[in-house]
Amino acid sequence: MALLAADLTIGGEVITVASSYIATANSILHANGTPLFCDINDEYLIDVDQISGKITKRSRGIMPVHLYGHPADMDEINKTAEKNNLFVVEDCAQSHGALYKGKMTGTLSDMGCFSFYSTKNMTVCGDGGMITTNDKKNAEKIKLLRNHGQYPKDVHTLVGYTARLNTVNAAIGRVQLKYLPKWIEARRNAAKKYNELLKDVGEIVLPPGDSKDKKPSYHLFEIKTKKRDKLLKFLKDNGIICLIHYPTPIPYQPIYKRMFGYKEGGFPKSEELSKQAMDLPMFPELKDSEIKYISEKIHEFFSR
Ligand SMILES: Cc1ncc(COP(=O)(O)O)c(C=O)c1O
Repeated sequence: MALLAADLTIGGEVITVASSYIATANSILHANGTPLFCDINDEYLIDVDQISGKITKRSRGIMPVHLYGHPADMDEINKTAEKNNLFVVEDCAQSHGALYKGKMTGTLSDMGCFSFYSTKNMTVCGDGGMITTNDKKNAEKIKLLRNHGQYPKDVHTLVGYTARLNTVNAAIGRVQLKYLPKWIEARRNAAKKYNELLKDVGEIVLPPGDSKDKKPSYHLFEIKTKKRDKLLKFLKDNGIICLIHYPTPIPYQPIYKRMFGYKEGGFPKSEELSKQAMDLPMFPELKDSEIKYISEKIHEFFSR
């Protein structure tokens, strides 16, 4: 709906990133646009140096993803967008509470799209989402779109959807919102502990951490290792379940290969991440003793 509010027209191109959940790119297709993909940088986020090379006369927007709760390089993205008259919509599905230069993700561009899916930093006990914008026109159009374009009653001025957030879910979300800062702080503390306990394991790459400009919210604690699949199994055998986000870059999903003819080799860094990345358990209630146990098991695996 953010893309529709931004007037993405049929065939309009939106530049996004190969390494994300498929919903990022699907949203562009659902809005009748065409996704174009950039590879990732060393922070596993859209490589801003590739954006300019993807711009054509059909380009309409850029959709960076703050994947794993790590803010993308918004200044560079906004600069390129401004220069080329493009809109920017942030995919904040994983970045509730992440800060870029002291500002929350979702406030750094034209619009921010949040997910309240049950694994996210906050949920609404069921599916739901939120769009943030400072632009009144966008807000009004999205309010129309979510309610079949109806205003006033029985007058429909555009083709909309049934996409209102269920009121019970919304009520749950409002309560969760109060806890969100505390939960994010707990995630940041857990990330700090993992970093301390795992810094000496030479064979893993720890996630990009805090920097002068970025304060991640650690939705996921993503590590990278060439021995990913063996480590996953070893940890599972020791009662530790780790997941892979994501085993296949979006352009290599069967439907994208079929629609756009993508072939392996086009997004080498995303491919490498998909083969080497795994996320360690990360949630606010994670105990220090559990982080210690998980870290000890990782040390044990690499010292065998
Ligand atoms: C990066 C990313 N984008 C988009 C989505 C889609 O969000 P939703 O499932 O709420 O539609 C998700 C999560 O599901 C996600 O992780």
